[in-house]
Amino acid sequence: MITKATVDRIMEATDIVEVIGEFVQLKKRGANYVGLSPFANERTPSFTVSPAKGIFKDFSSGLGGSAVTFLMEHEKFNYPEALKWLAKKYGIEVEELNDAPENREEENHRESLLIVTGYAAKFFQHSLLETEAGKSIAGSYFKERGFRDDTIKKFELGYSPDQWEAFTSSALKDGYQQEFLEETGLSVKRDNGTLYDRYRGRVMFPIHSFTGRVIAFGGRTLKSDKSVPKYVNSPESEIYHKSNVLYGLHFAKKAIRDEDNCYLVEGYADVISVHQSGIENVVASSGTSLTIEQIKLIGRLTKNITILYDGDAAGIKASLRGLDLILEEGLNVKVVLFPDGHDPDSYVRLLGSTGFKNYIEQNKKDFILYKTNLLLKEAGNDPIKKADVIRDIVESIAKIPDSIKASVFIRECSGLLQIEERSLNAELNKMRQAKQKKDHQQQQNKQQVEREAAPPVEEDELGLRLTNTQDETQEKEIVRLLVTYGSRIINWDGIANTYIGPFMIAELSDVEFEHPVCKSFIQIYHEEVEKGILPEELYYINHPDKQITDIAISVLLSQYTLSPNWYEMHKISTTDEEKDMKATILDAIFHLKLQKVGKILTNIRNQLKTSIIAEDQDILLSQYIHMKKVEKSITDYLGIVITK
Ligand code: CTP
Ligand code: MN
Repeated sequence: MITKATVDRIMEATDIVEVIGEFVQLKKRGANYVGLSPFANERTPSFTVSPAKGIFKDFSSGLGGSAVTFLMEHEKFNYPEALKWLAKKYGIEVEELNDAPENREEENHRESLLIVTGYAAKFFQHSLLETEAGKSIAGSYFKERGFRDDTIKKFELGYSPDQWEAFTSSALKDGYQQEFLEETGLSVKRDNGTLYDRYRGRVMFPIHSFTGRVIAFGGRTLKSDKSVPKYVNSPESEIYHKSNVLYGLHFAKKAIRDEDNCYLVEGYADVISVHQSGIENVVASSGTSLTIEQIKLIGRLTKNITILYDGDAAGIKASLRGLDLILEEGLNVKVVLFPDGHDPDSYVRLLGSTGFKNYIEQNKKDFILYKTNLLLKEAGNDPIKKADVIRDIVESIAKIPDSIKASVFIRECSGLLQIEERSLNAELNKMRQAKQKKDHQQQQNKQQVEREAAPPVEEDELGLRLTNTQDETQEKEIVRLLVTYGSRIINWDGIANTYIGPFMIAELSDVEFEHPVCKSFIQIYHEEVEKGILPEELYYINHPDKQITDIAISVLLSQYTLSPNWYEMHKISTTDEEKDMKATILDAIFHLKLQKVGKILTNIRNQLKTSIIAEDQDILLSQYIHMKKVEKSITDYLGIVITK
């Protein structure tokens, strides 16, 4: 842990305008500074920094806080990392308390590995720029590929000498420990215990962490001999987890935010060439298919991802499935294909930066539409294949969390597939419900496990169970009745016919819903009723707020999951509750009210226990008596006898 004294010193030294100024262009306006939000896309600056208060506020994204908060949000640092960054900037020595020796040791271990990889990057760089072999062999190779000197420096490219122990012996001589050389994979152990270099005679591409430290390497051979592997990459280590690293991200992050888009390519050379041409928002997955962690990494910076493919049809088809993962994260996916034989690296060199950008603009296609066209072409006139295509496409669309966006795709695909929008929607809802049902089941299983592990529920003196799950059940029951019967007319005997939804809403106007989703559901329902609309099932299923969709579907499905022979159950319970609709509805309303009254009574009792002022006690007592009367009238109706 960083000591309090160090934190204070860092805070004292920190000039928030100077810190944020490293990332955002700020202009003075009155007592404050303003700039364009680095967290949202905006044209008029709303991002405000107050040097006097030491805080910033971003009115576009709602984020705000100190310089430390800013670094944590912008650079994705954790708290100590942000403090250390500031300490380094202001030349403050960081004192740390040795509170957890094993944490400390782990931290030290990681740091030792990072020092070794940092040293190696310098070694390979030196070998490229300062040695005869490096200059002539690797230097001319990079030149041939069109990499400029400033690019080589920026990406810290290097060369590993074509010898067995050049790096290892230099590192050992400089005092680096054998275990760290092995763990980072830079050196490999022979049977006799001595070490040799993993990378020999290769051009070296260091791989950087999000914050710019070298964590691994890719080394490309310079031989055209097919028997040697084209690339040798660092093995996994404590500092390098391949699945959550994107090559080039450190150099691309600012441009990704600014452009609100991320180009995804395949290789090291693609990243470097495209970046060098001035298109800096580019990263590579380095030859593997994209992982969920990598997608999340991009998703923190932008919701738009444009995939630049080499023109190899088989490869494209194989990757289509993987792209559903990106949709599921709520990202918008576009794809661009290059002419056969070209990759982004070769094509940007051919067209230059402007031509390349134009090509992308003119050729980018939305992933779902692209996929639809591609699969349709394959299916030809075969009706069975075509049905498969439709299901496949709807499956992709079902992954999109934003239902408005999904419905736009349904419309466009309905044109392409020549199928009525209605049928596609039906299929979409079926898939959504199946997914909901599965999620719901999982949730129930989880809750079951939790219930079994939980201590017995406490009862208060009224014999009412005062737990949140109970609250939720009552509130959810109201939601269920609204979803299922809200738009029906009920035939009160004696009272005029009325719609169930508005009736329930009016009856519940004095009840405060607590479960956040139920609460917003009721609010939305209320607003619709005020507008004279009675929501029906499809209204919920297509509602833009995912929580509303989720709860509506889960209450609709809850009857079915009660028992394995849910159909029977459903029929019975529905007919029962429908037989006496009035009782069903009033029961639910009064049970919820009873529960709320019970809570209020408990609350008053607790206040009475702690109150010492006589007047207060009088007020509380009269409130108590009043609520007791309310409780009695409810229990009278419900036929529940409460003895206390
Ligand atoms: N790759 C790898 N191991 C291999 C081949 C490829 O790790 N044996 C990874 C590298 O990250 C490489 C990417 O997959 O950058 C794409 O491979 P490829 O298209 O073959 O290489 P390029 O990057 O295009 O390299 P070059 O242009 O130098 O041929
Ligand atoms: Mn290439």
